[in-house]
Amino acid sequence: MKKIFLLLLMIFMVSGCGGESQDKTTAEPEKKSVEKAPASNSSAEKNFLVVYFSRTGEEYGLGNITKGNTAIVAEYIAKKTGADMFEVKPATPYPDAYEPCTEIAKQELESNARPALAKNIDNLAQYDTIFLGFPIWWGALPRVMMTFLEANDFSGKTIIPFCTHGGSGLASSEREIVDACPNAKVLSGLAIVGKTAQNDFPAAQKDVDSWLKDLGY
Ligand SMILES: Cc1cc2nc3c(=O)[nH]c(=O)nc-3n(C[C@H](O)[C@H](O)[C@H](O)COP(=O)(O)O)c2cc1C
Repeated sequence: MKKIFLLLLMIFMVSGCGGESQDKTTAEPEKKSVEKAPASNSSAEKNFLVVYFSRTGEEYGLGNITKGNTAIVAEYIAKKTGADMFEVKPATPYPDAYEPCTEIAKQELESNARPALAKNIDNLAQYDTIFLGFPIWWGALPRVMMTFLEANDFSGKTIIPFCTHGGSGLASSEREIVDACPNAKVLSGLAIVGKTAQNDFPAAQKDVDSWLKDLGY
């Protein structure tokens, strides 16, 4: 009789352990989903993009340049922030010669043209912070940048402008960006003299570094 009682007690204990092991099975998937969290965080970290337009060829006071002034600054910002890059190119390239280029740019500004893009970006949705770089043309954004801004949805994104220029600074460009992207947050822009970017890179680097630091990047 004592043996039968001990046997029943063992069966009861074993069945009790079975219940516990069931609980463990349901608890395991929770553990896995916690482990997945860092993976999604790391992809969320890669959300900086540098978009820029820049021209090569004959530039006032610089002669023929093979890398545009804005491109030099854009590459440095991308290197510092780990951002991806996208270059805005017009479907019809601007002339290499300086004077004809200024004439076309002037006509485009006066007619508020929207020159066609060679290619639009196809993955803007994955970025939430966009550094937007351009040269100042006739005191304004080159019209091809307006085409780019209006061809894409910047709602909820942060846009950080930067320009290179020959003396005008950012001029009307920040206002134009705010008007073209009313649902984006536009932060304070950086203006670097084109010649400095081209001929005195350490000075341009210093300006970029302190600007990024002020912005908290
Ligand atoms: C068509 C054209 C218009 C320009 N208009 C201005 C201007 O209004 N104000 C200014 O400071 N610089 C002006 N510049 C000079 C450029 O802004 C400057 O050289 C800039 O660094 C060029 O950048 P990029 O090499 O990236 O194209 C103009 C240059 C061009 C080609």
